[in-house]
Amino acid sequence: MASLHLSCVNTTFSDHHHFSLGRVFPNPSNFTAHANHRTHRRQVSCTTAANGGQINQNVEGPAASKVKKVDRRNVLLGLGGGLYGAAANLVATPPASANPVQPPQLDKCGTAIDLITGKPIEDNCCPPISQTIIDYQIPPVPQMKMRPSAHRVSPEYISKYNLAIERMKALPADDPRSFMQQANIHCAYCNTAYFQAGQDSIKLQVHNSWLFFPFHRWYLYFYERILGKLIDDLTFALPFWNWDNPKGMSMPPMFLDPNSAIYDAKRNPDHIKPSAVVDLGMTNNTDPLQVVANNLTIMYTEMIRGNSTANDFMGKPYLQGTPPEPGPGSSERGSHTAIHVWVGQDMGNFYTAGRDPLFYCHHANVDRMWTLWQYFLPSTKVPNKKITDPDFLDSSFLFYDENAQLVRVTVKDCLDNLKMGFEYERIDLPWLDYRPPPQTSKAKISRVASTAPKAETLFPLKLDKIVRFQVSKTKKGKADESLVLENITLDTSKFLKFDVFVNDEDDNPGELDKAAYAGTYAQVPHKTDSTSATTSIQLKLTDLYEDMDVADDDFIVVTLVPRHEGPGVTIGGIKIIENPPPPKNSSA
Ligand code: C2O
Repeated sequence: MASLHLSCVNTTFSDHHHFSLGRVFPNPSNFTAHANHRTHRRQVSCTTAANGGQINQNVEGPAASKVKKVDRRNVLLGLGGGLYGAAANLVATPPASANPVQPPQLDKCGTAIDLITGKPIEDNCCPPISQTIIDYQIPPVPQMKMRPSAHRVSPEYISKYNLAIERMKALPADDPRSFMQQANIHCAYCNTAYFQAGQDSIKLQVHNSWLFFPFHRWYLYFYERILGKLIDDLTFALPFWNWDNPKGMSMPPMFLDPNSAIYDAKRNPDHIKPSAVVDLGMTNNTDPLQVVANNLTIMYTEMIRGNSTANDFMGKPYLQGTPPEPGPGSSERGSHTAIHVWVGQDMGNFYTAGRDPLFYCHHANVDRMWTLWQYFLPSTKVPNKKITDPDFLDSSFLFYDENAQLVRVTVKDCLDNLKMGFEYERIDLPWLDYRPPPQTSKAKISRVASTAPKAETLFPLKLDKIVRFQVSKTKKGKADESLVLENITLDTSKFLKFDVFVNDEDDNPGELDKAAYAGTYAQVPHKTDSTSATTSIQLKLTDLYEDMDVADDDFIVVTLVPRHEGPGVTIGGIKIIENPPPPKNSSA
């Protein structure tokens, strides 16, 4: 079924950096929403700029209320010396409904113990400690930064970028802006170090939850500003790896020059050739055309078809004191994980990912996906794309800014990239309409269904081979439903992936461009002091039913296809739930 229904199927990648694309920009209609948004937000941005600059603890006047907040926070961070006891009282009575993830206590960071070996994890990635923390205010930017596609940048841009990374690598090892310290920040925020958040001895893990997009947006924001400062160009913008477009489905050539600062010798040798096509599905299919078709289907599914709520895309709630990794969103567990693993080595594990400059280029595209999802995708698919829960909005992180100042940032301040001063070069989105072709053969599915056991008889299920079973629907036929896989217990130290198919007629798991493909779970291995996590995912079935004959069926046949070797995944249960009704006043 390798039918590539798109106009630009060039899978041979040229090695010069600015080839011209026939249709780089999408149809104007795709961007109308964005254009409006942009005009509107630019005004907001100017207002911010007028009030700009950073507020520190000594400011007076309008920022007085802020100062109070800062004091309390510093106390919470354990930086308040003798006031520490008072802080405990403050913390003891938080409003019942407000429990956002607190910034880490840098002085409480330590080396984690590997539970398998019982030995300390040798990489200590604790960031340097600092005595002053500033509540970060987004400063004015001279002009909107335009992050370019890495496959389309000019030689001048490449030299500039290399120069900035060279200078970053030349900073003293204990400078929080240095290349390794920047990589360490990522390591520390993914449960590798013993890095406490707030007063609780929980370890911070920004992955596999709703903190995924906000954390990485702030992380890149400061990384970009540090690079800009090092080359004295505050308009410097990070490149993004356009892996969602066939023309970007190879390692960007700029990262392949072994003599450049942005090179990393530790990458999968099979994937460093410009002809190697990114495999977002990790199906091991060797036909490049099929791989591109799979990739576009994955993008369509994780961006559009598979989500019924904002959490399905963004990830599940993670609160202070609750277990980490409650559940990744569709983009995080899909294309995001796949690229980490496909590049391999450094990028193949969270604790080393930041040591490959390509990581930041990858994450710029991950961030771009968030902007596209927010602004372009039809609101009929996910009626409410905003998470307004204060536990999300008030979650906060610490970073070092371009002046090596430790700053505290909140999720609510990063929800609008234009307000933060950057946007992305406009590139065609060939996945936008890449709906898989409808399924035809009902008869075959009925035959398969009659022999498939009921889910109840199989779960909890150790997933180490392909399994097929029946799951009861909430209503007969084409209902508005989602498939929930719950209590998924994972060995966090391994790469794990499985795909989910519904009423699959042809049993060719190397092809994903078919109506039966419902979604994916995949994780990047991480080195932590706990060896398992329990998570859950939800896959919307409504659109999928439209492309197949489910007549008045009261169950579906689900096929789970593991893409990893051996054990590592146990799924506690599986069920179908009704999707929440759209809010009354939602306009499509
Ligand atoms: Cu923080 Cu893609 O990892």
